[in-house]
Amino acid sequence: MADLLSLFPAGSTFAEDRTLVIGGCRADNLAEEFGTPVLVVAEHALRARAREYVDTLAARWANSRVVFASKAFPCTAVQRVMVEEGLGLDVAGGGEILTAIKAGIDPGLIVLHGNAKSDEEIAIAVEHGVGLVVVDNSDDVDRLEATVPEGRTQDVLVRIIPGVTADTHAHVLTGHEGSKFGLAPADAAPLINRIEQSTRLRMQGLHVHVGSQILDVEPFAASVEPVARLGEFPIYDLGGGLGARYTWADNPPAISEYLDSLIGAAREHLPAEAQIIIEPGRSMVCESAATIYRVTTVKRGKVTFVAVDGGMGDNLEVALFEQRFEAGIVGRFEGPDHETVTVVGRHCESGDVLVDGVDLSAPAVGDLLAVPATGAYCFTMSNNYNGNRRIPVVFARDGQSRLVVRRETWDDLTARDVD
Ligand SMILES: Cc1ncc(COP(=O)(O)O)c(C=O)c1O
Repeated sequence: MADLLSLFPAGSTFAEDRTLVIGGCRADNLAEEFGTPVLVVAEHALRARAREYVDTLAARWANSRVVFASKAFPCTAVQRVMVEEGLGLDVAGGGEILTAIKAGIDPGLIVLHGNAKSDEEIAIAVEHGVGLVVVDNSDDVDRLEATVPEGRTQDVLVRIIPGVTADTHAHVLTGHEGSKFGLAPADAAPLINRIEQSTRLRMQGLHVHVGSQILDVEPFAASVEPVARLGEFPIYDLGGGLGARYTWADNPPAISEYLDSLIGAAREHLPAEAQIIIEPGRSMVCESAATIYRVTTVKRGKVTFVAVDGGMGDNLEVALFEQRFEAGIVGRFEGPDHETVTVVGRHCESGDVLVDGVDLSAPAVGDLLAVPATGAYCFTMSNNYNGNRRIPVVFARDGQSRLVVRRETWDDLTARDVD
């Protein structure tokens, strides 16, 4: 069996009895204190990744900013870590603006996205003084012009479809021709003209985002030239999308390799004095967290199903785009009697599979099962399917654990009922 520990957050170790330790905290103690399933974030690993992004970009392009794509882990405590580490926040909608502000961000460092922004979201953005609104379509411009008060201006970027198709799942591609996000260059040109004439909007630059979980660097570099052809602007936001390591088969480019390629293309095509923004989400948070479940049933037959007390209620990545995860029994990652099993969740869907085909050491009811690389988009898309109570988030650091989001209560499930 490959080295499962290496997929857990940086700094994870084994205790003397081979129990998994994350952020200095034993997985069995975390399960005991906070219950299962529990999403555990290794705080040092998260902060180190944020710093690596900032430093690596600054070393290549001095006039640059890293904004964390909040959608990857839209939890106030995670946004607060990013703010404390000096990053801005990319938000997709009014709710993420409000959690970003609660996290302590200077609103001027927020970048707002959305292909279908509502009047209310535009109003929230303008009221709070969001730094950049990324215009996706001409309706965004109509709404902004109707909302920005006279005498004020709102800085905007225009989102461009670069026509680049990356090698990733179709559900997370965004920069291909025909994408619902942004405008093809020919359609963007007249809108840019219109914004340049506006007394309420200030045309600051262009935005591009190719997609997510991209494991090679070429598509990022290829997205720069189509944007550059639209003219010279003060800001170019080159999006996020770098892939993360979920399994030992994954070999994502290092941040330095990714930025060598992206900034190499920027040097070739963009004005030297422009500001460059990047918006990493998945690759910022994915590998800094893991989920700990309790095994509730082991059903042996043609296929051995190991069922746990979570599933697609806390991890939709598998069902949405067939993301592969790995898993191990806490205390027995390298234990005896390995068998190949399918780890499934507790939800009433045959698609509720966490890991299809993984070697576990003698799985039994009551064992703890740990799944690494659950920091990206798992919290985001957690849901109440089958009356699931959304799971807690715990920060682990230097042997201390801290609850940052509590588990939903049974009462929470009916809290919105008005009749
Ligand atoms: C506009 C935009 N920026 C950044 C991101 C972050 O992408 P990722 O999480 O793959 O880094 C996304 C996510 O799809 C996005 O839509």
